[in-house]
Amino acid sequence: MFGLPGPSNMNLGTDCFSAANGLVWMALFITRFHGGYGDLSYSIPEEMKRGAVIGNIAKDLGLDAKGLSQRSARIDLNGNRRRFCELNIQTGELVISERVDREEMCGSKSSCPLKYELVLEHPLELHGILLQIQDINDNSPNFPNDEIKLSIPELAVKGARFSLDMAQDSDVGNNGIKNYLLEKNEHFSLTVQSNSDGVKYSELVLDKELDREEQQELSLLLTAVDGGSPPRSGSATIHVTVLDANDNRPIFSEPVYKGTLVENAQIGTVAVRVTATDPDEGANGEVTYEFSLITSKAAKLFTIDKMAGEVKVTGPIDFEDETDYEIRVQAKDGFGLASSAKVIINIIDINDNAPVINVKSLKNPVPENAAVGTEVGVIHVQDDDSDGNSQVRCSIQQNVPFKLMPSIKKYFSLVTTSELDREKIADYNITLTATDEGNPPLSSSKTIHLSVSDVNDNPPVFEEQSYSAYVSENNKPGSSVCSVTARDPDWRQNGTVFYSLLPSEVNGVPLSSYLSINGDTGVIHAVRAFDYEQFRSFKVQVVARDNGSPPLSSNVTVSVFITDENDNSPQILYPTLEGNSFMTEMVPKAALSGSLLSKVIAVDADSGQNAWLSYQIVKSTDPGLFAIGVHSGEIRAQRDISESDSMKQNLVISVKDNGQPSLSTTCAVYLLISDNLAEVPELKDMSYEENNSKLTSYLIIALVSVSTFFLTFIILIIAVRLCHRRKPRLLFDGAVAIPSAYLPPNYADVDGTGTLRSTYNYDGYMTTGSHTSDFKFARSYNENTLLAGNTLQKNSRDNSDFLDFTDNGSKVSTLVNTLILS
Ligand SMILES: *[C@@H]1O[C@H](CO)[C@@H](O)[C@H](O)[C@H]1NC(C)=O
Ligand SMILES: *[C@@H]1O[C@H](CO)[C@@H](O)[C@H](O)[C@H]1NC(C)=O
Ligand SMILES: *[C@@H]1O[C@H](CO)[C@@H](O)[C@H](O)[C@H]1NC(C)=O
Repeated sequence: MFGLPGPSNMNLGTDCFSAANGLVWMALFITRFHGGYGDLSYSIPEEMKRGAVIGNIAKDLGLDAKGLSQRSARIDLNGNRRRFCELNIQTGELVISERVDREEMCGSKSSCPLKYELVLEHPLELHGILLQIQDINDNSPNFPNDEIKLSIPELAVKGARFSLDMAQDSDVGNNGIKNYLLEKNEHFSLTVQSNSDGVKYSELVLDKELDREEQQELSLLLTAVDGGSPPRSGSATIHVTVLDANDNRPIFSEPVYKGTLVENAQIGTVAVRVTATDPDEGANGEVTYEFSLITSKAAKLFTIDKMAGEVKVTGPIDFEDETDYEIRVQAKDGFGLASSAKVIINIIDINDNAPVINVKSLKNPVPENAAVGTEVGVIHVQDDDSDGNSQVRCSIQQNVPFKLMPSIKKYFSLVTTSELDREKIADYNITLTATDEGNPPLSSSKTIHLSVSDVNDNPPVFEEQSYSAYVSENNKPGSSVCSVTARDPDWRQNGTVFYSLLPSEVNGVPLSSYLSINGDTGVIHAVRAFDYEQFRSFKVQVVARDNGSPPLSSNVTVSVFITDENDNSPQILYPTLEGNSFMTEMVPKAALSGSLLSKVIAVDADSGQNAWLSYQIVKSTDPGLFAIGVHSGEIRAQRDISESDSMKQNLVISVKDNGQPSLSTTCAVYLLISDNLAEVPELKDMSYEENNSKLTSYLIIALVSVSTFFLTFIILIIAVRLCHRRKPRLLFDGAVAIPSAYLPPNYADVDGTGTLRSTYNYDGYMTTGSHTSDFKFARSYNENTLLAGNTLQKNSRDNSDFLDFTDNGSKVSTLVNTLILS
């Protein structure tokens, strides 16, 4: 309750309008004024009850109340729309007929008059009546809004004023707004001011600074009080919103953030999340994050989510590259207040690196004679991972003659475990495998190519134990005889084979004049033509040598066999081929059919078939008288000789060998059918008509002397033979050359061993005139002796010599023939 003193004439109680006290009330308050507008003036409070008496007009005018009705007294409205009051004609009292609301009629005007006129007739009389309506405090102060909204920046200074809405009170005067009151609070006080027109208003004064972060809103009750009695009041709520100022920097929740990240984490993985808070509002409290100090390497790997503060992976995280990262993060609010924190990200190793095998050194190639245990290489194995992930085991595949020996740290030696042989395995692919102990383990392998270098440890080896070559005589010089091959498995020059002939002599002549060898191909060539009749075989040592240092060699025997060719015509030993000689056989007149008369002796220097001779009579004086043994060469009578037969018989005999093609020789045999040598002179007439008599007589002399000599010779032979059976050869050393005159000079046999056999045996048949005079010579000639003989000049094996020999010999043979005949 407001204990406000009011003016004494308007002092109204709360029950002032109660009907029971109506009269008392009127007596107190209705005041009659005289003068002014009218005759009568009353002052009445508003809101009087109906029927309430304002005043007694009759009495106040001094009129008789009874006379009023006679005079038709009435109240004229005089412009008022509404009547509000009525005249009681019986009593002359003016009574309220309608509620009077001053505020409705007069608003804020301070005076509110109602004017009437009292009209009386008989006589007409007018009296002005003025009703002055007095205000009563029937309206409370009223704020236009129940809530007054204020926004005050938190940085507002002490003493700042904020005007507030004014309250209204329809009542006027003292009943209007008298004061404003503010609910007690710690920040604000209130001052009440008056406008120039006296209207009161209030202002909020900041007594204590605001802090939005402490208290964001305040509600204060503002009350307006009027001056009525009792006073009335009205209130409104002041709603103060504290406006934020950027007075706080963002604060990180921790000074250091630690995060772990497995390497190779996927892009987008959150490594760590930082949070900073800023109690400010709006942009002032809007925190964004950024890296403030970051290495360029880390910058490639991480980003920070501006809003969420998540540090995310953007690149490949490699433990082997960096094991931890330190980054400074800054948090900033909308107006740039910032603070920072440290972020440490530890990277966790995963086994993502296979071991790497490095060959630090390699002795390549390895000589094949390297001792067992020789170190051929040094291997280093590296694994970039850490701890168990980098523990490495190293192995090598089986079945190579190498092994790995752990050495210092992660070094291994590759050593040989057995001897190497380039000729068996020339190179190795050694596969090294390294496995780490990670989970799952990673491994890698590397292949080392190791080759074995050659050492000259193999001599050339001939493909065959021995070689045989067959060459036919009269070969072309330079023709190839045979070819030898030796193999050497060594490499290049160590395996390059050169062939040569081991110097030796054949028949006293250096081998080189017979054979040569192609050093590269091993083809053996004849240097000259061979003569089977000279020697039949010989042996040669061929050496195969490699080109190593020192060289290795081996040798092989090549046996050269010369094969015969039919290159010698049969040679008639008897009778001599010479057409001019006296080769006349005496045939006894009494010779019977089948008796042996003569014999053709021929030899052939060739051998085998080539020396197999056959005889044939080609021409004869009396065909049918003589026949010749095809193989024996014996001339026999085919029938008994008769007297009628011509004394002189000529035969032409052909001797042919069996070679291909066959060679033949012919000779003439002169037969004289006679028992008496005295008939001989006819001989020359018979065959050699042209021979002069001088020659005949010389011949006879010669024959006599030679036959004497010959007889002595025969006796001597027989004697020596008896005495020296054991050394017949010696006997013939230096012996007479005559028989040999019938032999071909180079008639030699080469035996299998290659040594020239110095003896030559043949059976010769010498036929005398008698059937029984056949005797056999067994002759053994020493070739050398023969050569040494004075009779012949023979130095070499030249065919020309042979020819010489025949020429010389022919003369002697003539003599011999003559001798035999004698
Ligand atoms: C080693 O490997 C190479 C190339 O892969 C191959 O040509 C060669 O024949 C191999 N050698 C051996 C002995 O396996
Ligand atoms: C041949 O062998 C020798 C050792 O005997 C060696 O030094 C040389 O290198 C080898 N030559 C080749 C071509 O392999
Ligand atoms: C030929 O070889 C044999 C063994 O194969 C050897 O004893 C001999 O000395 C060699 N001869 C030469 C001249 O090398």
